[in-house]
Amino acid sequence: MSRPLAVICLAAGLGKRTKVSMPKVLLPLCGRTLAASALAAVAPLEPDCTVVVLHHHKEAVEASLRAAVGSSLRDLRFVDQGAPKGTGHAVQVAMQALGGFRGDVLVVYGDCPLVTTATLRRLRELRAEDTPCSVLTACPDDPSGLGRILRDAEGRFVGIREERDCSAEERAIDEINAGFYCFDGEALQRALQGLRPDNAQGEYYLTDAVASLAAAGREVPTLEAEDPTEILGVNSLVDLANARAVMQERILLEHLQNGVLIADPGTTWIDHGVRIGRDTRILPCTVIGAGCVVGENCEVGPFAHLRAGTVLEDGAEVGNFVEAKKTILGAGAKAKHLTYLGDATVGARANIGAGTITANYDGVHKHATQIGARAFIGSGSVLVAPSAVGDDAMTGAGAIVTRGSRIGPGEVWVGVPARKLKQRDLPPRREGQG
Ligand code: UD1
Ligand code: MG
Repeated sequence: MSRPLAVICLAAGLGKRTKVSMPKVLLPLCGRTLAASALAAVAPLEPDCTVVVLHHHKEAVEASLRAAVGSSLRDLRFVDQGAPKGTGHAVQVAMQALGGFRGDVLVVYGDCPLVTTATLRRLRELRAEDTPCSVLTACPDDPSGLGRILRDAEGRFVGIREERDCSAEERAIDEINAGFYCFDGEALQRALQGLRPDNAQGEYYLTDAVASLAAAGREVPTLEAEDPTEILGVNSLVDLANARAVMQERILLEHLQNGVLIADPGTTWIDHGVRIGRDTRILPCTVIGAGCVVGENCEVGPFAHLRAGTVLEDGAEVGNFVEAKKTILGAGAKAKHLTYLGDATVGARANIGAGTITANYDGVHKHATQIGARAFIGSGSVLVAPSAVGDDAMTGAGAIVTRGSRIGPGEVWVGVPARKLKQRDLPPRREGQG
């Protein structure tokens, strides 16, 4: 589409209905905040400019969004709404920041994280040159709390009524306003000037601007979301839990379709932005955080937790009650039971015995642990970081490898604190043990 595109994302509200102290738009959803999710859906449309309207906790919201989506959006701006006086007021402030912008203005709400790019693209395409605005609607099973779509006898869109301003008859309407609109910039600018706060909340409603465009006699086309879960808005923590379930299902479906064996999708949590190779088995009760990379033919779980920065190379295995953070597990390496690996690099085909801990935190700083290829870490070993274990080296069961230790290739260290065993005391080593 050749018309320029500006996006306005509304994220200034406090979210009182969530009853938690953090700003609503920063609530997490599968490894991304609500607002970042809404903007991630927008990014592939390649807007010329994106304005995020902020107020409550504005520094925190801005910093978080810059980190999450700053690199995927050209000309990302933030404006302070001042005391929030409604969605219409928020868009007024954003339009001032856009200064006489001509083209499409796509408005999204920062608390509606499930919309897809495809739907937003269709909404934009629906607004023809001579229509002032297109509106996304849906018919969810439960429309409570949402604005209802009003139509005339011919079925033409005439306006949006917030639930608390609805008559009993209007409340029975099942078509709702999803909170996404594509405006003609100039028409929007004019419509905003006429807004009045004459409603139950005493706010300036953006929805009234949409109604005034329809009242001016030009058609306002609507697009009904095929999948009503796309329009789930988050106003409470109950909504958040529902939205999370929907988003999680989408993420898991994609992995299943790509040849990842997820034994029990019901108990598996995988964030956005996780790459998993084919033939990898994800066993029940596993949690994989944003940014992890799992190769082909790996096994993860049951009851495993992979945190940010963890990489499993092909054929690596992480089993029961194992947590890995910022850890690289080389090809075919195994940590199968009761282990914490933090800031560790584990070489190919190393075996990490049950109960091994990398003690990576000294109370102030985090330190790294290096474990070489084919190393064999005995059960119950504690490796105090920074420390290093060479290729083909071994630690005995219960060894405490103290801070700064460097175990040479092929060496065997045992005891508390761990010391190098002399050659004559070495146990016989067989291939493929563990
Ligand atoms: C809004 C719509 C409603 C729609 C629903 C869809 C209006 C008047 N109502 O209701 O028709 O069915 O979304 O989810 O638009 N915000 C600001 N500044 C403000 C007020 C709000 O930035 O002054 C932001 C909020 O942070 C939030 C978004 O706008 O991200 C929507 O506000 P919210 O109060 O959640 O509106 P709803 O009651 O959900
Ligand atoms: Mg809302």
